[in-house]
Amino acid sequence: MSRQDGVSTGIGEQITIVEVGPRDGLQNEAGVIPTAAKIAFIESLAAAGARVIEATSFVTPAAVPQLADAGEVMKSIRRQPGVRYPVLVPNEKGYDRARDAGVDAIALFTAATEAFCQANIRCSIDESFDRFAPVIERARADRTWIRGYVSVAFDCPYSGPVPAESAVAVARRLFDAGCDEVSIADTLGTATAAVVQDLLTVATDELPIEHVALHFHDTYGHAVSNIGIAFDRGYRIFDSAAGGLGGCPFAPGASGNVATEAVVRSFDARDVMSGIDSAAVERAAADVLQARIDDVAPTE
Ligand code: COA
Ligand code: ZN
Repeated sequence: MSRQDGVSTGIGEQITIVEVGPRDGLQNEAGVIPTAAKIAFIESLAAAGARVIEATSFVTPAAVPQLADAGEVMKSIRRQPGVRYPVLVPNEKGYDRARDAGVDAIALFTAATEAFCQANIRCSIDESFDRFAPVIERARADRTWIRGYVSVAFDCPYSGPVPAESAVAVARRLFDAGCDEVSIADTLGTATAAVVQDLLTVATDELPIEHVALHFHDTYGHAVSNIGIAFDRGYRIFDSAAGGLGGCPFAPGASGNVATEAVVRSFDARDVMSGIDSAAVERAAADVLQARIDDVAPTE
């Protein structure tokens, strides 16, 4: 349906929420979440209607001890038909572990700035693509679905505001390298409407926007309105975390992801379909936090 000015109202349209709570959320929660509670969380999110759930991360356990049980989580979850369960993979070693656990969807991650790339994955942007190449080759051969992330696409904790062209160029490289979908991330949650509009203008020219996701953190409360801006410009894939869990251990000052329930409610109000039950998502987040054991050193 269209208004007279030609802008889509979105009524009756569908969006895809990529639920990142089990990964982006839990990787940064203090305390220990028992493996069984993570599994229950993922299963509850699928029951709440999530169709893409970023389930865990096969990075170095030393870097993210909260998700050291990634293999056990992926082997144990009951997978629902029609639900995709991508996992973070930083390198071939991560891909080996993910394959052993039966994973068929992965997410690679690089950054829009050299400083963040070094802090997060200890290499340059060019080197990150060198690392991805063999992973992508194997993933393609295995018919594994591949997502790519551009972290700090708007603002970097180390090098400041990021030109839209630089962030979009990294996204373009991820598509060219073989990613099926690319997520452009406001890791710090500092992007304002004008900055988002600028990036989307460049992205719309350069990228297949039906395969572009936007990933907003909600540090300053702009995330839901930024998602609305992207929706109005034709973007349909949005990352969010149940309960607004998370942050980023490698981005000082980053707060949680935008809450899935807030995104769902804002689309419900516009009669845009996410397929997700916001109250069920909220309960899932409350339950997993309830299971957290504080002040206990990880045993894995
Ligand atoms: N899974 C498990 N262990 C891994 C691994 C993986 N995916 N990748 C590397 N390792 C191990 C190596 O075997 C090696 O172990 P050793 O010291 O016992 O020999 C050690 O980690 C260092 O390996 P190296 O290849 O030198 O990696 P690195 O130290 O340069 O780290 C990354 C590079 C990307 C693997 C690491 O920085 C990382 O996992 N970062 C994660 C960042 C993250 O998750 N950020 C949040 C998401 S945005
Ligand atoms: Zn994030």
